[in-house]
Amino acid sequence: MSAGGDISDSISNFFAIRLIHWQRQHGRHHLPWQNTRDAYRVWLSEIMLQQTQVGTVIPYYRRFLQCFPDMQSLASASLDEVMAQWSGLGYYSRARNLHKAAQRIMSEHGGTFPEQVEVIRQLPGVGRSTAAAIGVFAFGKRAAILDGNVKRIFSRCFGIEGYPGEKHVETQLWQIAEALLPKRDESPIERDIEDYTQALMDLGATICTRAHPRCGSCPLRPECIAFRDNCVGSLPTPRPRKILPEREAALLLVVAQGKILLEKRPSAGIWGALWSLPEMQVNENVIEYCMQLGINVRLISRMEVFAHTFTHFKLWIYPLILQVISRSPGHLSPEALSQPGNQWVWMMPEDALKAAIPSPVRKVLLQYTSQTEPLEILAMADN
Ligand code: ADE
Repeated sequence: MSAGGDISDSISNFFAIRLIHWQRQHGRHHLPWQNTRDAYRVWLSEIMLQQTQVGTVIPYYRRFLQCFPDMQSLASASLDEVMAQWSGLGYYSRARNLHKAAQRIMSEHGGTFPEQVEVIRQLPGVGRSTAAAIGVFAFGKRAAILDGNVKRIFSRCFGIEGYPGEKHVETQLWQIAEALLPKRDESPIERDIEDYTQALMDLGATICTRAHPRCGSCPLRPECIAFRDNCVGSLPTPRPRKILPEREAALLLVVAQGKILLEKRPSAGIWGALWSLPEMQVNENVIEYCMQLGINVRLISRMEVFAHTFTHFKLWIYPLILQVISRSPGHLSPEALSQPGNQWVWMMPEDALKAAIPSPVRKVLLQYTSQTEPLEILAMADN
């Protein structure tokens, strides 16, 4: 098939009707964000569910709602409070955008969530598929979704080759997504668009999975080109392997009286607005680096080097454990405290693990807290 435009009406309705029946019998009906038209809740769930599985999201979703039950409470919270509730869920730009969007909805939409999919799509953190999902579940709009799971279903069912991240493949998949939407006038089924959309999500999560698809239970098997041609395992075409540039950085775990030093990253850039460990070039002298922060340290140990992959580069992380011997009056030097956009704090490692920290920092902290021999705690004068 060359494009979604080729899908005849009879196929598309057949596809939708079969999916809707399947969803009603086998789909998920009691997820905490279902059975509501509350756009705030629907929006929150769709943002949390971007790149994150249902099982991981559920406890975060519940806790977040207890803390911020409505748009007003989210918009008036500080970014730190929002980040703390997001801590551990990852992809923190989602939390920053959520907060920004809540403030915009308060100031530009009088606190009422916009209904039109094109307007929803203007909100920070909301792409075409997320806007459609919110429009469908909160307002019953007829809009097509195309997240990673749905791309997989369509690639297999219609035998679409090529990496779905490539523009021409994605365009073709969007055409299919639009063409397959159940038709308003012809569909005799109530709430068809909600159930159809949920069916695609549920099928992708439970049947047409990436690694072990359960084709024997799939309602689309009779039409599935990948099943027919025995190429389910090779569709969708994987991302072409590209060699990422590599960088190195040392992360400093500076310990004083059982507490560790954390640095708030500037809002823009990598790990924006997250609490992180102080970072320096691997070839810098760590004792001198810490002196500039107003702390005199000794090196206790080096932890295992590991890699963290970002979209555009791979970062080799060299974690160092350092103990403070003495420091300038006031926890850190005034120069360090006054650097624009930076904040510093001493925290117990258990508390740091509850704060909004990037996953490699979490990894270093977990390794540090699980070591059997605690660091000798030196008494430390403030001056
Ligand atoms: N993934 C994205 N949105 C979802 C939803 N509303 N329910 C289940 N999984 C999803």
